[in-house]
Amino acid sequence: MLVRRESLGEAAPIWFAAKETWPKIRASLPEPAQAFATACGFEPTPGRSQILPGADGGIGGVLFGIEGESARTRDLFLPGQLVASLPSGLYRFANEPHDATLAALSWLLSGYRFRRYKTNGGELPRLCVPENVDAARIERIARAVVLGRDLINTPANDMDPDGLEAAALCLAARHHAKAAVTRGDPLLDANLPLIHAVGRAAEKPPRLVDFSFGDEAKPKVTLVGKGVCFDSGGLDIKSDTAMSLMKKDMGGAATALALAAMIMEASLAIRLRVLIPIVENAISGSAMRPGDIYKSHKGLSVEIGNTDAEGRLILADALALADEEAPELLIDFATLTGAARVALGPDLPPFYTMDEALAAEISQFGVAAQDPVWRLPLWDPYDKLLEGKVADLSNISGGPFAGSITAALFLRRFVERANSWAHFDIYAWTPKAKPGRPEGAEVQAARLLYDLLETRYGAGADQSGKKTPRVAHHVKITSEDLAIDEEAGLEDKSP
Ligand code: BES
Ligand code: MN
Ligand code: ZN
Repeated sequence: MLVRRESLGEAAPIWFAAKETWPKIRASLPEPAQAFATACGFEPTPGRSQILPGADGGIGGVLFGIEGESARTRDLFLPGQLVASLPSGLYRFANEPHDATLAALSWLLSGYRFRRYKTNGGELPRLCVPENVDAARIERIARAVVLGRDLINTPANDMDPDGLEAAALCLAARHHAKAAVTRGDPLLDANLPLIHAVGRAAEKPPRLVDFSFGDEAKPKVTLVGKGVCFDSGGLDIKSDTAMSLMKKDMGGAATALALAAMIMEASLAIRLRVLIPIVENAISGSAMRPGDIYKSHKGLSVEIGNTDAEGRLILADALALADEEAPELLIDFATLTGAARVALGPDLPPFYTMDEALAAEISQFGVAAQDPVWRLPLWDPYDKLLEGKVADLSNISGGPFAGSITAALFLRRFVERANSWAHFDIYAWTPKAKPGRPEGAEVQAARLLYDLLETRYGAGADQSGKKTPRVAHHVKITSEDLAIDEEAGLEDKSP
């Protein structure tokens, strides 16, 4: 957590030392601290930390190794690692890390613990807001990431379609957004047959949450997130190992909600719309079957080649609906394919768009925000692989190759009128903890898109025309902690 700068005097200083800067930093330390660092064999290798004794027996300061200015790989989140290694207490940055804003953000994101089912960890070290860092802004971003991570980490018995709907509606209500839910058989009357087909076998009925925020006259930005609360695979059932993590198959929905939270809290000058198709891909007598054919919202008939390719089905209806009002920007997030992980691994989600300028911006903001993504092509020659034998379209390509690309091409069939569309095939999970990224649920691509949208549409535009200052020297932080379990919209259903 962050602490206002008034407490600066009591805080233990953290010196960031690279190979080149270490001699000078070392020379500036009190003699006993220098001797202590030498006795401990401290070298400024990236990620190494060393506590220095104070005159009174307390903590006099901390040395932390970072990469050199010219290093090819500079992890701007590295300082977040200190949260796990330092004792509780108050700290401050004594000199500049590579990027103070990302270092402080990483501090917040590293301190995330999933606390819904057990007390997790003791008291965490606190950080004084570094100079030139907009504390309100990074806290807003971190709070949204916490919301997304909590939603993803929550298992499917609690984060079922009712739970995810409640979380989406709670967020919408907090920002006075206009919300509507279409649940169960009314999905058929609303012409959303694919969402219905995928979710109808589950005990908790399928649904679509649709909420809008902001002035209708502003540019329309629409977010769509895959909300599969659990993916058993359906009748084409997954193996035990493939199924084990499938509570996170609503990671796209959680990401869309996290980004929506950032946008709404900052009152960006857009008309935001969020569409969350919510289902459980379950097995029962009413489950959709391989070979079934359903008409989609758009009118195209879709043949079910594999019931486990369910995400693209619910997204097809939601995207077609979103597309009808020809938004300026249409963005979807989905834990859509295992193939995306095979191609790029868990930390680098692929994205797809036809808009060259947008693609370049997304890549740049991804690097700048330490939220990297990688563009893969909507390769036209593969599009014909999706042709159905007896329907307009099949939901699988029928081969083992380029699975993330063919899934993206399937989605593209349902987007026509949006000015720009971008699709993110995310993993929503960190298998092994890294700085700023504890093991477990992760919100990917939301932070980069927030930065992009903030740059395009401005922050605080609805706050009587005043821009939120990017620099805040004396920010009063009232929230005691970033753990916002009770704010996360998780309705406690226990009696
Ligand atoms: N939710 C999965 C994709 C997934 C699996 C994401 C593992 C992250 C980790 C999706 O619904 C799915 O099952 N996709 C299939 C598609 C196939 C049947 C064409 C896949 O990727 O195997
Ligand atoms: Mn599946
Ligand atoms: Zn799935």
